[in-house]
Amino acid sequence: MKLFYPRLTLATLTLLQSNSFACEDLIEISQSDLQALLPPSPIWNDTKSVRDFVVLDSDLTTPAEFSNFQETATYEQVTDFFIHLAEDSPYVQLSSIAKLANGEDVWLVIVSGEEQFDSKDMVNPVVYATAGIHPGESSGVNAGMMFIRNLVTKEEYKSILGSINFLFVPIMNVQGYLRQSPSSRINQYGPNTSGRRANGSWKNLNRDFAKLDTPEVRAVVGVMRDFDVSFYTDMHSTDGMNYQPDVTWCDNGDAGLSNEIYAWLRTEMQPELQTFLEEEYNHITGVCYDANDPMDPTAGYYPYFSDGATY
Ligand SMILES: *[C@@H]1O[C@H](CO)[C@@H](O)[C@H](O)[C@H]1NC(C)=O
Ligand SMILES: *[C@@H]1O[C@H](CO)[C@@H](O)[C@H](O)[C@H]1NC(C)=O
Ligand SMILES: *[C@@H]1O[C@H](CO)[C@@H](O)[C@H](O)[C@H]1NC(C)=O
Repeated sequence: MKLFYPRLTLATLTLLQSNSFACEDLIEISQSDLQALLPPSPIWNDTKSVRDFVVLDSDLTTPAEFSNFQETATYEQVTDFFIHLAEDSPYVQLSSIAKLANGEDVWLVIVSGEEQFDSKDMVNPVVYATAGIHPGESSGVNAGMMFIRNLVTKEEYKSILGSINFLFVPIMNVQGYLRQSPSSRINQYGPNTSGRRANGSWKNLNRDFAKLDTPEVRAVVGVMRDFDVSFYTDMHSTDGMNYQPDVTWCDNGDAGLSNEIYAWLRTEMQPELQTFLEEEYNHITGVCYDANDPMDPTAGYYPYFSDGATY
């Protein structure tokens, strides 16, 4: 795939601003040329985890696995995958939680080892995850497909399947996700296409959890009203920041609503999860952080906690 980028000279910028640049001002550059400009991608010693999670010989192999993680599944492929899985497995149900302007669905996948798909019939705790709120950050979309497939088809996951109900919104920002382009996220390593950050009306859904202006976020929050959710996580990837940890998280920190939840996250969940990911899978884990000044890494970093209910 070849992309055409304007030569970034002062003259071209002036031409761009005046909206009248000529073809000779354009240079041809490929996605790999662009990635070559980035600092080298850290090498992950992933000998164990790849063997553990990837399935290559199934009609439920995902596009990410087929392409050696060069591609992200499209909206249509995600839809077909979960329709197929729901038909095949008694533990999976697919439902639409919102119909968008052009008729697309925001999907909710309900995975229940108890085979209960109505909140009032569920006994086991409910874990809820959403992905694709920022469509340029599609790791969670593809990982969620692999996770649910493995959860309902592999013997070694039986005990997890038997102890939780798992709710998953694979693509929250459907209209942003539909706009796959090789040039959406040239500032980061990742699949060879990425969607657009904003929704169909240029709203960043990750700023709407307090106001609930958008039908997408209203639907996702509605799931928390309809089910007795014990744990919720929203999956992002990097927005271009390049740092050593390859698995990061953030929560409300000590600014959240409950001191007890904060204490549990820090003293129970975080140490256990970190030990597991680092010792079992050679990941480098850490809290998600952001630069104090994005143009000057020497100005330091701060832990990126969610700021109250907005995010
Ligand atoms: C990769 O991980 C394995 C298993 O943990 C370890 O034995 C090996 O030395 C590691 N290799 C590198 C290059 O870090
Ligand atoms: C992305 O990668 C896949 C698999 O390598 C390839 O078939 C496809 O053409 C690539 N798409 C783009 C836009 O580069
Ligand atoms: C995006 O956000 C706007 C503003 O709240 C909303 O009107 C619209 O329905 C949302 N979704 C799409 C697909 O545009």
